Formats: sequence, C-alpha cells, structure tokens
Amino acid sequence: MCGIVAYIGDQQAFPIVLKGLKRLEYRGYDSAGIAVINDRQLNNYKQKGKVAELETFTENKDVEGTIGIGHTRWATHGPPNDINAHPHVSGDGEIALIHNGIIENYDTLKEGLLSRGHEFKSETDTEVLIHLIEDIKKNEEVTTAEAVRLALSNVIGAYAIVVMDQSNPDQLIAARKSSPLVVGIGKKGDYYLASDATPIVEYTNEVVYLDDEEIAIVDRNKGLRLYNIQNQEKTPYIQELELQLEELEKGGYEHFMLKEIHEQPRSIKDCFRGRLNVDKGWVGLGGIKDYEQQLANANRIIMVACGTSWHAALVGEYLFEDLTRTPVEVEYASEFRYRNPIIEEGDIVIAISQSGETADTLAALELAKSKGAIILGICNVVGSSISRITHAGSYTHAGPEIGVASTKAFTAQVTVLTLMALTIARKKGTLNESKFRRLITEMELIPDKVSRILESSAYIEKLSKNYKGARNALYLGRGNSFPVALEGALKLKEISYIHAEGYPAAEMKHGPIALIDEEMPVFVIATKGPSYEKVVSNIQEVKARKGKVVAIVTEGDEQVKNMADHVIEIPDTDEHLTPLLTTIPLQLVSYYIAVMRECNVDQPRNLAKSVTVE
Ligand code: M6R
Repeated sequence: MCGIVAYIGDQQAFPIVLKGLKRLEYRGYDSAGIAVINDRQLNNYKQKGKVAELETFTENKDVEGTIGIGHTRWATHGPPNDINAHPHVSGDGEIALIHNGIIENYDTLKEGLLSRGHEFKSETDTEVLIHLIEDIKKNEEVTTAEAVRLALSNVIGAYAIVVMDQSNPDQLIAARKSSPLVVGIGKKGDYYLASDATPIVEYTNEVVYLDDEEIAIVDRNKGLRLYNIQNQEKTPYIQELELQLEELEKGGYEHFMLKEIHEQPRSIKDCFRGRLNVDKGWVGLGGIKDYEQQLANANRIIMVACGTSWHAALVGEYLFEDLTRTPVEVEYASEFRYRNPIIEEGDIVIAISQSGETADTLAALELAKSKGAIILGICNVVGSSISRITHAGSYTHAGPEIGVASTKAFTAQVTVLTLMALTIARKKGTLNESKFRRLITEMELIPDKVSRILESSAYIEKLSKNYKGARNALYLGRGNSFPVALEGALKLKEISYIHAEGYPAAEMKHGPIALIDEEMPVFVIATKGPSYEKVVSNIQEVKARKGKVVAIVTEGDEQVKNMADHVIEIPDTDEHLTPLLTTIPLQLVSYYIAVMRECNVDQPRNLAKSVTVE
C-alpha cells in the first residue's frame, strides 16, 4: 500500500531512489514520483503509471543531487493521476513530502488551512499534511523537523513519511505511525529509508525499524537521531538484516509468482527446519516456547487474518480442533476489530499475516491486547509491525514474497499452523504417539511431494488452456479442502479477473448449482479421505448439469478420472496435510490462465501487496 524510499549521502540520490521504487512497486503501482535537491533547488517529477514510465519521463531532466525521496502509490484519496502522485510540495515549493498511510482528519485540517489562505492542487490527504508543516514552520518560526513533529501531533490516522526541505539539503526527516519505515545505515555514512528492507539490502545490512510515533532525523553531519513524538531523544536499536539480494530477483522465471510457486519445496522445508525431528519424534517452535502451556490451557483460540492468510487460518481451525481439541474461531480482522468481540480470560488470539503490516489485522490484535488477551503472530516479514506488537510468535521463513498473489506464504503459514497444532496436541496429550509419528514423518515428505506436483506443470498449463475464456468458475472442497477451494478461487479472480467462488462442496446444491452449465468450469478437490465418496456424488451432480469438472485427485484414482473432464493427480499423504499439496495445482492453473489472458500476473490491477490502510 504505497512504497516510500529516500536517500542521503555522497552518491547521486536519483538512481538509488529509482531502483528502490522498482523493488517496492509491488506495494502499489498507480503512479510514481521522485524529488531531489540540487544546489538548494528542489526538483520534483511525478507521473501516473509505473516506475518505468517515470524513468522515461525523467530521461533528460535535471535529476542531480545527493538527497532525494520517492514514492510509488496505491491510490486511496483521489484517482491515480499526475497531480495526485507523490511527492507533494508545500505552497512555496520548498518542502517535499512522501507518505504511506491515511490522514483520517484531513478534512478538518484542510478547512483550517484553507481559511489561512493555503491553496491545494491535489485531492489527496497527503497534501494537507505538507501544507500543515509549512504553516506551522512559518507561523511558529520553528525548524522543519520541529514543524513535522508538531504537525504530526495534530494528525489522526496512519503514516510513514519522509520530508526534505531545500533550505536544509543536509537533512531528511522521517516518522511513522501504523505504516512501516526502516532506516538503513550505509557503510559510507550514508542513509537509506524505505517502507521495507528490500531497497536497502544491496547497500547495507544494518537497519533500524522505526516504532510508532517515532521521528528520525538523518543529518549528513550529525548522523541518525531518534525522538518520540513528545520530543524525547531515544537510542536507535540497530538490527542486522538476514535478507539476501538474490531473493529479490526473478532468478530466470518469467514472473515472481511462478518463481514463488516453484520455491515451495524449499520454503516449506525452511519453515520446518530446526522445528521438526523425525528420528527423535520431536516438534517445537522456539518463538512460542514460553506460551506453550497457555496455548495448551486455552479455552479458545481466535485466529484473525485477511485474504489468503484468512484461508490459512481456516486450515488451522481444522488442524487445531482435530488434533488439540481446543475450540477455534477464525475471524476476518476487519470485522473482528469493529464488533466489540467477547474476549475472555484464557483466550489466545493468533494473527496470521505474510507482510505483518495489514492494517486490519494489526488493529484487531491491538484490540485483543487491550482486552487482556495473549496475542501471538505468524508472520513472514521479519521485524514487521505485527511481529513486534505480539507477545510471541513464529516466523514462516518463506523468504520475500514479491508477487501480489500470495503463494509460498500460504503453504508456509499452513506449515507453521501444523507444527503449532502438533506441539500443543503433544502438550495436551490429545494425540497418540503413533499418529504423531505418522504426521511428522509425512510432514517431512511434503517438500518432495510438492516437487513432484510441480513436475506436472506442463500438463497443468495445457489443461488450463481449456478454461482461459471462462467468465465464471466454481471451486469446491469439503473439510480442510474447503479453505483450499476458497484460496483457489481467490487466486484465479485476483490475477486473471475471472469471477470465481469457493464453496463447501455440499453447499453447492443450496444455490450455486443454478449457475452450472456447459460453460462453467468447476474445480473440485476430491482427494482420498473421509469425505471422498460425498465429493464424488457432488461431481456427479455437476456433470448431470453439463458442468466442466477439473478434479484434484490422489494418485491412482480411477473413479473420478472416469467422470471428470480433467484430473490433476497429487501424491497421497495424511489427510491433515493435503492442503499443502492440493493448493499447488490450483496456484499453477491460476497462473497459466492469467498469463494466457495477458494479465499482469505480479501486479494485478487495483491491488497492492500489503494493505496498510483499512
Ligand atoms: O500480508 P497479509 O498476509 O496480512 O495480507 C493479507 C491479504 O491482503 C493477502 O493475503 C491478499 O489477499 C493476497 N493478495 C492474496 O493473494
């Protein structure tokens, strides 16, 4: 949800900021802009469209300067156009600002500024903030940094901002509240600021993650100084990045999404590495070790998440309830946060989020924390906001996920949830030794089984051709395959723009069956397990209405093969673990259909990778 980058040092800022924006483009791609200061002259360039368009636009422009800020936008207030693009500048054109977040009280602030003679060019909330800073600086005769601090004290909402002023080209001022911001400390005394560490990693691995309501002043001569919003100085906590540059490249694949689908054998293995030992019959998650007893004693576990992470939570519900016998409720974070939920002593809230920055999930956690709950996190991005506000948690270790459509993050989340459920089940004594051994043995085999499914990519690509022209699609599954059906439908709609719905297979006859005709592909998860025969009946119901059936079946299945139009075979595994396998062919089908429809697979329209606004 918008990416921001800034640089100050002795190198040219423009190429560094431009490259950083390309790395952050997955956060929003409606428009892009960069401002630099050259010899006390602020030059600001911004364009509707992708960063590449900004690059072309600036080809013969003056982009000199060793201090600069840049922004790639996901529009909230005002449509994507050149004027609404960031950076925004003050009325006198001297101060520039980039912003990720939402200024909720911008209307009230704007009224006051209009009455004091300020004129606005854009429809954005951000422009109000830069005028407010200018207003305070002039009227109260304070430094720009102090004006930023005072202005932020009047702001309601979320922000990560960077400000620069042509009258002081030695300084960048940055601040955050609810939107992420990282400061990289360069080796040559230079500084890099960004929404996440991806633009920083090729220059340095020393970073400081800003906390809420912290203000960083980065000065060529005085270095990095950190303050809270009350102006008390704080000591920056420098952390070492573990991210590798290669993880941010496509590595020979046409799209990040395809690369990330193919990374799953490794990412699942990385996720359980050191947390699972089949020989010793042991499972453990270091991050939640201190909370194992509370988890075992919990009266109820509430999982909060959005999108794909919510689907992973639904898989978690099946795992936890069956293996640990603890009641689980899965909540959309956006609903949970606004409905005065009942949280009682002994309840544990677990947030699941790839980015660790999703605004609704963060707010849901904060609410649960304020009601006294123990809050735990399952996040992929190390150092993210959710991982920092939770009492404890487990990282998924899937590596950076750049494609907007989540793939390897989902299977890593399900892996962590499986390990967590197994850990608690052992602690509670709800799982006998032989079943436990069988599950962990099977878990260890999953990466190889995922590799085998990926080997059938060419076949999946071929069969996908039959459905590239579909206008609607239905996804059906029962038990823990129902969340996989939801996830399959989400993947198809978000990247190929085909309307798709996921349903529990038995619910089809309560409505969706009316949609079925010879045009309608129905993807059915029909692997061997307790509800296999029931799903076979559902397939017959679809075929009786001439629907086209693509079934995901267990290797060697003949019964469904004789009924379905296409089958995709997956290796057999324990029924608790099938979501880790059945989801893979559905990811591939969505990917190939989107490519055939010439859609922008990695950056689908209207979406952004991390949704840091509600
Ligand atoms: O970073 P998070 O896991 O919290 O993100 C949640 C959703 O925004 C995300 O899963 C979204 O639905 C993806 N585009 C799905 O592919």
